[in-house]
Order: sequence, then C-alpha cells, then structure tokens
Amino acid sequence: MARPRRGQLKQVRIEALDPRGPGLATVAGVAVRVPDTAPGDLVRVRLGKRGHSGWFGELVELLTPGPERREPPCPLAGRCGGCTWQHVEPALQQRTRLAHGQQLLSECARLKDLKVEAYPLPAGRELGYRHRVKLPIEAGPRGLRLGCYAAHSHEVVEAERCLVHAALLDRLLSAVKDVLGAHRWPAGDTELGQAALRTVFARVNGAQDQALLGFATRSELDLSPLWGPLRAKVPELVGLFRSRAADAGNSLLAREIVSVCGRTFIDEQLGPVRMRIPAGAFSQVDPHAASCIADLIAEQMRAAEPRRVLDLYCGLGALGIRAALGTDVPLLQIERDPAMAEEAGRNARLNGLQSESFAGNVADWQGRLQASDGVIVNPPRKGLEPDLLQRLCTGRPARIAYLSCRPETLARDLDALVAAGARVERLVGFDLFPQTVHIETLALLRFDGDRTPLRG
Ligand SMILES: C[S@@+](CC[C@H](N)C(=O)[O-])C[C@H]1O[C@@H](n2cnc3c(N)ncnc32)[C@H](O)[C@@H]1O
Repeated sequence: MARPRRGQLKQVRIEALDPRGPGLATVAGVAVRVPDTAPGDLVRVRLGKRGHSGWFGELVELLTPGPERREPPCPLAGRCGGCTWQHVEPALQQRTRLAHGQQLLSECARLKDLKVEAYPLPAGRELGYRHRVKLPIEAGPRGLRLGCYAAHSHEVVEAERCLVHAALLDRLLSAVKDVLGAHRWPAGDTELGQAALRTVFARVNGAQDQALLGFATRSELDLSPLWGPLRAKVPELVGLFRSRAADAGNSLLAREIVSVCGRTFIDEQLGPVRMRIPAGAFSQVDPHAASCIADLIAEQMRAAEPRRVLDLYCGLGALGIRAALGTDVPLLQIERDPAMAEEAGRNARLNGLQSESFAGNVADWQGRLQASDGVIVNPPRKGLEPDLLQRLCTGRPARIAYLSCRPETLARDLDALVAAGARVERLVGFDLFPQTVHIETLALLRFDGDRTPLRG
C-alpha cells in the first residue's frame, strides 16, 4: 500500500476527541488530528503536516455526522477561534475535559487512584457565561472590526453577537461597534486605525448592572467623545478607560490604565463577598462559578480550623476573603502585581477583614509557614513556583486548596505534595469554559500527623 503523503485526500472515521480540541482518526496506523470533527463522524480530510505525534488533517467534507455532533449554536463556529467545540454535544465536551485531567493523574503512580468529580454547575450555563473579554480591533477599508481571532491566525472574525457572552457584555460590545461606526472613527484610515485603537476591554459584573470599558491605544487619543453616546446606549456603563497598547506584536495586555470618564472599577458580589474589580485585573470570567469555588474552599478551610489563612497568588483576594469571612482567623495575601496586592487588601477591608498584604513573588516570601495554616494557591498555568512547592512539602500546612487552570502542572505538583505525605481529600473539576477545551480543577489536600513548622 502506498504511504500516505501530505496533501492527499483520505476518508476516515473519527474515533475519539483529543482533549486539545481536534477529532482523532488513524491513517495507515498513524494518528491524524482533524479540527472541527467529533467521534463517529465519517469525513474526508486533507493530510497536512506530519509532526512527531502524527498527521494534522484539514476537514474537507463531513460525509456522515457522528452521534455526538450537533449543529453549532453559533453561526461562526469553525471560523472563529474563540470556541473549539461548538459542534460537540455539551455532555461529551464535559466528559473529555474531565477525562483529560483523569488521564494525567493516572500517569503518576501516586495519583492513579484519585477521581476527579464534576462540580454540578446550573444547567443552561453552556452559553452566556463570560463576563469579561478582551478583543483585538482591526482597521480595514470598511472601518473598524472587532472580534475574536480566527484559530491559529490574527485575522479578526467579527460577530453580530457572541453566544458565550453574558447579555450585557454583548450589548456593550454591540454599542461599541455602533458608536465607533457612527463616529467614523478613526475615519477609514487604515494606518491611523491601527495606530489608534488596538484592543477593547469589556467587563460586566455578575448582576449585570455595571459595565466597564477600555481601549488600548497606541497614541494619546482623546476617547471622551465616545462616553456620551455609549452611555446613551448602555446606561449600566460606569467607566471608560484608556491603556497603552504594547509597542509591537499582537499582545492584548492593558498597561498604564488612565481614566477617561467615570470610574476604573466595577462592584462585584461573589456570594457573601463584596469585591471591587479594577480595570485590567484578573478575575474569573464567570462570577457565579467563581463564587461556587470560593465556597468549597471556605468549607474545607473551616473544617480544619486553621490559625491563619494564606492566600498565595491572591489576585484581587476573593478566595482568601471568602475563607476568612465571618471568622477571626488572620488573613495573609501575597500577589506579585503591586496594584493588585493593594486592591486585595482593600477588598479585605471592604468585607470587614484586616489582612496583611504583600506585593512580591510567593517564592521570595520569607514568612514562617505554620503547620496550623490553611493555604490557598491559585497559580498561573506554569503551576507552583518550585521554591514554594518545596516549602509546602516541608512545612506540611494543615490544609491546602490548590486551584489550577492547567491539569498538566496540577498533576506534577500534586505528585510532589503526595510524595511528601499530603492526602488529596477531593479533586473537583469546574466546567468554567464550556465550548472550549479548558477546565479549572480544585484539589483539596491535607497533611496529617506530626508536623514540625519550618522556617520559610
Ligand atoms: C490565576 S490568578 C489568581 C487570582 C485569584 N486567586 C482569583 O481567584 O482571582 C494568578 C495570580 O497570581 C499572580 N502571580 C503569578 N505569579 C506569581 C508569583 N510568582 N508570586 C506571586 N503572585 C504571582 C498573578 O499576578 C495573578 O494575579
């Protein structure tokens, strides 16, 4: 039989869903990854590049749909890079996200018996869950376009509306398009357009009665003429800000936030916790789910009656505040970003708590880790700083709540903690990002027995 070649058309049956997104099939004993397919689909694919884990294929024609393929609710599915699995039944999406975490654990001998349980978030949450977004703006011959990038590209795909956005967020973005269009601004000049508006940041609170909007600009453009027309369309808008766009590349980060009109923060209520969420800060995209996670952590911490709650990687402080709320347990917050660390302290005070807030790297914290501490860690995708992990292993705090956005690094860090004697009490998968491959996992751990507090 002739060996398959790049560019060849093949008819294949999709056998499974890769947790990174594409459907998986086999050609002459070699795996082929085909985006926008689902298990059971009979498809015609064009073979693309061959990597170390097999072929990359392009879907050319769907011949027969599999049983768990559905008509995507969004008309832009397959073009817009925002959602990967609009065409897959939600139950299979969820199973695949959970199974991925489970698979990674099973690869570590010490973790292989652990089970990831699915947290039952309310039905109907597969759409309309996103409360904040940053989107690129592109200037074209027919004015400005804003939307998600297409998959693996920097082409902006403009959407009438986005189904995963909360209703107010969508209304705000639609008002932005109307107002920018009506102002013909920056008037059809591609160069000026690119120089002027780079990114839009939009955020609404869980109650959907406050919205905040910002633009990253490459020049000191006066955005104040937008305020009146935007407020007329979206009375919930409480503030408009400007930030400096990165000088080069496609970074969508907000830097040096400057208020244009109104405020630079919104008020949020996460269960019993009051929060002030400033422009540019990290917060979970779904406040309802964020509140469920914080409740579960608080429950675990309280059961242990810790002498102190440490919220490391605290961001704006929601998790630690929820755990300390209604107790007289001291709260210590550590966050690398000085502005966020200050906001975390402010949020603690807003809830009647006195916290000690440190701006700095968790690995440089020179405090004393006590065996009676309850420790919350919510690191970025790369997982725990090695020095902190080491300190947790030797300090053996009574409880650790580890919230992770990346199962690979969570499995690695859990393996080290379990090797040091920690017991994993629960592992809970929160389906925070339906239609995508992402999952948030909460691991609740305890150290028992003879604990000797160590110097940090
Ligand atoms: C995933 S966010 C968690 C935020 C917070 N726990 C929440 O629920 O909103 C991670 C946070 O850790 C901070 N961070 C990242 N690396 C850090 C480090 N080495 N030391 C301290 N903070 C760090 C980031 O600035 C970010 O605010």
